[in-house]
Amino acid sequence: MKFKITYLKDYPEFIPTVAKWVYEEWADKNKKSLKQVIQEFENYCNKDKIPIAFVAVDRETPVGLINIWENDLDSKEDLTPWVAAFYVIPEYRNKGVGKALMEKALGKAREMRFKIIYLHAETAGEYYQKLGWKLIEDTINDKGEASKLFKYEL
Ligand SMILES: CC(C)(COP(=O)(O)OP(=O)(O)OC[C@H]1O[C@@H](n2cnc3c(N)ncnc32)[C@H](O)[C@@H]1OP(=O)(O)O)[C@@H](O)C(=O)NCCC(=O)NCCS
Repeated sequence: MKFKITYLKDYPEFIPTVAKWVYEEWADKNKKSLKQVIQEFENYCNKDKIPIAFVAVDRETPVGLINIWENDLDSKEDLTPWVAAFYVIPEYRNKGVGKALMEKALGKAREMRFKIIYLHAETAGEYYQKLGWKLIEDTINDKGEASKLFKYEL
């Protein structure tokens, strides 16, 4: 499998596609429109300051996404930064795209001299533990659903 991981800033034409993945997977549709999520992704087109979005690209098509955000949980405003909106399209799962996206995001956070990075996950907890993330606590997400808070020492 040949794919590359790069900044969303290099592929602004992918914004509607990646925003749709995130909207479909996570958005509280009573509170947010797809248009708002698209606008948010326009703000994630940075390379040297947070928020930063990375995309996995195969044959000039987006196949995965990962982000570094300042915060991803209202109840944990004191913690920063976060890995968020981590997604690989179903046809490309279990081929190492997720792992490569995660390595890119962690490498960038390290380069920016952060010592710890956080994420929360409603599902896929085992996946993160396999990648070296440590469970901090059970928590709830902004929609009131059960989620798990993890940290990674960079
Ligand atoms: C989680 C996700 C990004 C992983 O991407 P991926 O490209 O499939 O990951 P990789 O190919 O690097 O790793 C696949 C491995 O993770 C495991 N895995 C994938 N999803 C998992 C899950 N939900 N729980 C536990 N393990 C999981 C696979 O079994 C596989 O294990 P193996 O290496 O032992 O065979 C992808 O499955 C996805 O987009 N899921 C839907 C969105 C999502 O849940 N995002 C994270 C929510 S917080």
